Amino acid sequence: MKERLELLAKEAERAIEAAASDKDALLQLKARYLGRKGEFSGFLKELAALPAEDRKAAGEAINQAKTRLEDAIAILIGGIEGRWKEAALAKERLDVTLPGRTMPLGKRHPVMQVMEEIQEVFFGLGFDIAEGPEIELDSYNFEKLNIPKDHPAREMQDTFYVSSDVLLRTHTSPVQIRVMENKRPPVRVIAPGTVFRRDSDVTHSPMFHQVEGFMVDKGVSFANLKAVLADFLRTFFGRDTGVRFRPSFFPFTEPSAEADIRCVLCKGAGCRVCKGSGWLEILGAGMIHPEVFRSVGYDYEEYSGFAFGLGVERIAMLKYGIDDLRLLFENDLRFLKQF
Ligand code: DAH
Repeated sequence: MKERLELLAKEAERAIEAAASDKDALLQLKARYLGRKGEFSGFLKELAALPAEDRKAAGEAINQAKTRLEDAIAILIGGIEGRWKEAALAKERLDVTLPGRTMPLGKRHPVMQVMEEIQEVFFGLGFDIAEGPEIELDSYNFEKLNIPKDHPAREMQDTFYVSSDVLLRTHTSPVQIRVMENKRPPVRVIAPGTVFRRDSDVTHSPMFHQVEGFMVDKGVSFANLKAVLADFLRTFFGRDTGVRFRPSFFPFTEPSAEADIRCVLCKGAGCRVCKGSGWLEILGAGMIHPEVFRSVGYDYEEYSGFAFGLGVERIAMLKYGIDDLRLLFENDLRFLKQF
């Protein structure tokens, strides 16, 4: 048996050597010689017939021969697979220095970005958001805001009329009326939106955007107005921004004021943008007029409130140093991409 075992092992070794670079052939040889029905299994069966004292040595010899062949096959197959992997890697090599292909990504329009930033600040102060229609009734746009027909204040806002009592809203102030008609105090609301006026030049567009805001409760005072608006302006333009309030006139507020900030460009020295004054007019505001409260059914003895309105394009222009309003509406991607 010993000689037959050695002969078979030699034969298997030669066969394995001949198939050294062929994985399939090696697997076939493995099955043929070492498998459960393979040629070496025959020897194991013969063990039973051997005298007990020879069985252990014979068994070890068979197993050693099998292990040697198994190892030889495993090493060869490992080598073949390794070479395959290397070849695949060489072929699929990635050039990580190639520039990537980027997807063109759209962005919010700068006017919308500024509008959202303004909203963020007032969210932080606990204000809710409200919206109203762009095609508005004369009574909401004017009359309930204490601007009766034929009142000279209507000339402050040159209006697009749809019919004698329907128009494109000239400001976001009518949203004040719509909110107050539907909700009792306390109210704290901002109303961003699109507005329309018959006006068109370097600083005026027939369509533009405003953010309206107002707050009504018992005991709201002009000091609250100043605190909230100064805080807004300093959050938006920077903590050390100079802020001042000037008396002004609006039919729907009494007293009325305008807020200015120190010129963001010349820091107060005087330049073309602030027309030499060192200040920039930034918003209109005031204590809500008793006539306005009367028109929405609020008791002006019990409640008081302040309101304000600001132009979004103007703020965007100041923030980004844009000197022609029309750039914002030409939709030239080379311009818009900068924001
Ligand atoms: N509606 C005014 C305008 O368009 C802006 C404004 C001024 C709104 C004072 C207000 C305010 O709420 O109190 O010019």
